[in-house]
Amino acid sequence: MYLYVRGVSMQTIDSILTERREFMPEQSFQSSANISFSDYQELCRQAEEDYEGFWARFARENLVWGRGFTRVLNEEHAPFYKWFEDGQLNVSFNCLDRHLPHHSAKPAIIFEADDGQVTSVTYADLHQQVGRCANALKSLGLVSGDRVVIYMPMSIEVVVAMQACARIGVIHSVVFGGFSAKSLGERIADAKARLVITADEGLRGGRTLPLKSTCDEALTYPGTETVEKVLVYRRTGGDVAFFPDRDLWWDVLVSKQPSDCEALLFDAEHPLFILYTSGSTGKPKGVQHSSAGYLLGAILSMRWVFDYKADDVFWCTADVGWVTGHTYVAYGPLAVGATQVIFEGVPTWPHPGRIWDMIFRYGVNVFYTAPTAIRSLIKLGPDLPLNYDLSSLRLIGTVGEPINPEAWMWYYEKVGRSRCPVVDTWWQTETGSHMIAPLPGACLAKPGSCTRPLPGIMADIVDDKGQNVQNGQGGMLVIKKPFPSLLRTLWNDPERFQQVYFPDNFQGRWYLSGDSAHRDADGYFWIMGRIDDVLNVSGHRLGSMEIESALVAHPQVAEAAVVGRYHEIKGESIVAFVVMKGTMLTEDEADVMALELSEWVTEQIGRIARPDEIRFGENLPKTRSGKIMRRLLRSIARREQIDSDISTLENPQILAQLGRACATRSP
Ligand code: PRX
Repeated sequence: MYLYVRGVSMQTIDSILTERREFMPEQSFQSSANISFSDYQELCRQAEEDYEGFWARFARENLVWGRGFTRVLNEEHAPFYKWFEDGQLNVSFNCLDRHLPHHSAKPAIIFEADDGQVTSVTYADLHQQVGRCANALKSLGLVSGDRVVIYMPMSIEVVVAMQACARIGVIHSVVFGGFSAKSLGERIADAKARLVITADEGLRGGRTLPLKSTCDEALTYPGTETVEKVLVYRRTGGDVAFFPDRDLWWDVLVSKQPSDCEALLFDAEHPLFILYTSGSTGKPKGVQHSSAGYLLGAILSMRWVFDYKADDVFWCTADVGWVTGHTYVAYGPLAVGATQVIFEGVPTWPHPGRIWDMIFRYGVNVFYTAPTAIRSLIKLGPDLPLNYDLSSLRLIGTVGEPINPEAWMWYYEKVGRSRCPVVDTWWQTETGSHMIAPLPGACLAKPGSCTRPLPGIMADIVDDKGQNVQNGQGGMLVIKKPFPSLLRTLWNDPERFQQVYFPDNFQGRWYLSGDSAHRDADGYFWIMGRIDDVLNVSGHRLGSMEIESALVAHPQVAEAAVVGRYHEIKGESIVAFVVMKGTMLTEDEADVMALELSEWVTEQIGRIARPDEIRFGENLPKTRSGKIMRRLLRSIARREQIDSDISTLENPQILAQLGRACATRSP
């Protein structure tokens, strides 16, 4: 029997790539780590023995409650779980006010703009700015439960806007500044927002982003009539349209407000935000998070996975338009009282060494970025980090996609100088915070594995019948118990929430992540990609990730993506899209390289994984958060017309190039 998950039949998946390198954290790191190996074992034991007690203890220890909770988990309406439901707190108080008695003068955010200008705020400053902004929102008549869409560039002000919403119980929905008017309009309409906060323009790699005019266009879409006002932060001073009946300047409205705004108490389950994330098909899903459970996940992972220490300078490069920028920019670092760096622009501008230079200049200790950024930095200059003093770093992390072992090794050696543990963190918009990741002082790392579930996260890998798969066999990654930071529902669509994440097949009780994974003999998890990206070649179900990793292990390959195409004998044949380091190949060079890469994959994995066709391009189609869109590559490989929405694509012009690319058949 096969289970049909999101249109894909799923039994088990063959794992074909074997990675044997292992790295222990240095003794000095281990001895000062927040969680030692024995702590880790003890935490896992406690979570097994008394699951609710485990979470209750951490919720009491890490959050400041206005009214304590007595009930830990309510499962009556599963899978609509409730955590700490009779407790009350204020998320903004937990991020700001709690630090004022002892750390009001501590820098909270150091912001470096696209043009290099630096602004920084202390916790006291931030508290005042948030108070002013919250009062401005109140002056517009916004009340708890209203929705505000935020469409702003990276800035201190965007964090202020998010925190201000949290302070008065308004639900924010941040939309990444690179999204089109159509995508923005759709999200505004779905959330029925009363206010949009935007900026005149953003800056990205020296170019301006027309945020206000995009927002004006978005507000002509049907369904956006709920928007009463648009609050505009003046970022560049550019000339933009201004509609006096609807638009308000941030510097006029916000700056005249009093800075004191009481942090009212809200229920633990009060929705903190909605964040839209694309489904594989159809309209975006409005992932809805709670207040207390979400914040608890953010805080614990800051302490456990990032091993946060009071003096750390923390830098997560994500934009607040993504969940990573929510949890590890706008909430987590503030809740633990960290000093964090944020930046506007792109890692590679004004020069390819910007990231390394910033790490040096700000003395960054903990650095967190995405494999896509790592791969583009490798492409730009594999040895570039060596020109910079990166000795402040003590921990480096990745998130967003499986990291190919070779990219991991580069990150570990060239950036971490074989001294800093790498935390490969698996999680999702839906899970709110890290789920499977190494506790860096307690865990031996293996390149390409996100290691083991955090204490209290009951992750498992199962087949279509819900049976555990054998070690080394791939299956569906599920989480078998609810946990505090999990999404609560999909905004406006509870049925879809149930169908997608808690399908009937598993009695509606297990959270289905949509990813495939396998586990090795040490219990380490290896993410193999989205279930939808599985290939079926001659009866073997192969995760795209492993073949891609083999390709990327070739010294001249920068990036690779593989997809399946119908094959009458094999079921599916493998089509690989490859980006080389350096300049594009000529046609003749491409033929030679295709042959070499086919041989290479055969050597690394075996004949089964040998691509039937290899196409070379300058880049791969990516979402604006840097994820490869294999769906579009599948269409190209199958020579189908692309008629799906590509407005969320970062680089649409690449589709034509890959479509034209010489379809080199490997013999
Ligand atoms: O497929 C997994 C991949 O990214 C998906 C979640 O994407 P999103 O909701 O945009 O959140 C990204 C930031 C958390 C997952 O289902 N993914 C994320 N982290 C990893 C990963 N795949 C492998 N290894 C990771 N560390």
